[in-house]
Amino acid sequence: MRQKIVAGNWKMNGSKESIVSLVSGLLKMKDSNSEVVIAPSFPYLSQVCDLVDASSLVLAAQNISHEVKGAYTGEVSASMLGDFGVKYVLLGHSERRSIYGETDAIVASKVKTALEFRLTPMLCIGETLEERQSNQTLAVCERQLQAVIALVGIESFEKMVVAYEPVWAIGTGLSASAEQAQEVHESIRAFLAKSSESVSQKVQILYGGSVKASTSSALFQMPDVDGALVGGASLDAEEFIAIIKAAG
Ligand code: G3P
Repeated sequence: MRQKIVAGNWKMNGSKESIVSLVSGLLKMKDSNSEVVIAPSFPYLSQVCDLVDASSLVLAAQNISHEVKGAYTGEVSASMLGDFGVKYVLLGHSERRSIYGETDAIVASKVKTALEFRLTPMLCIGETLEERQSNQTLAVCERQLQAVIALVGIESFEKMVVAYEPVWAIGTGLSASAEQAQEVHESIRAFLAKSSESVSQKVQILYGGSVKASTSSALFQMPDVDGALVGGASLDAEEFIAIIKAAG
């Protein structure tokens, strides 16, 4: 039985003041059977680390350099995240791919570095609306997965999480239906099973893309949906807690 994960990707949002309010709201939540993860922007990692210290809330970073250390102005290394108790790192997010030109190879290289520093990559994959409309959804997801498998091997997926985030659902308010998500998640698991059946059964596959409390219950009923990667709704403590409750 895979434990559910409900993760909040705060993206480039927040202030010292708003974060105190958001985290204090989350800390009022009763313990959940799901693992609850929050991914603040880098400047606030230390503050959030202190705020969540005695709680069950888990920290994620939104990115890392594929380099380990050195003359890479503006970059953040995997090794630095250990100072803040960070467990997960989002990699391959569609905004990193489309806005910052991160290729499958760069994403795979970041996954490799994350694993080397004992971080758990949350590997984001997903198709654009154009790719879906041209029936390329599975081909795109498999290509993005294969680039990582080729570099780090299928066994590494035991130490990773996959997040299926259809690009056309991110930030649009238009979530994939539970059935659409299940169809792709099932295919992702089947693709991983071609390399290792046991690993495919262990890897948690999250759905991301306009997840809201009102849509999350149906999502979490799906057998291959192991949780959610939430953007906008994670910035509202009440809404995010409602999603966590829906996960059970
Ligand atoms: O990483 C999660 C994010 O891309 C989804 O954003 O605002 O559609 O929930 P949102």
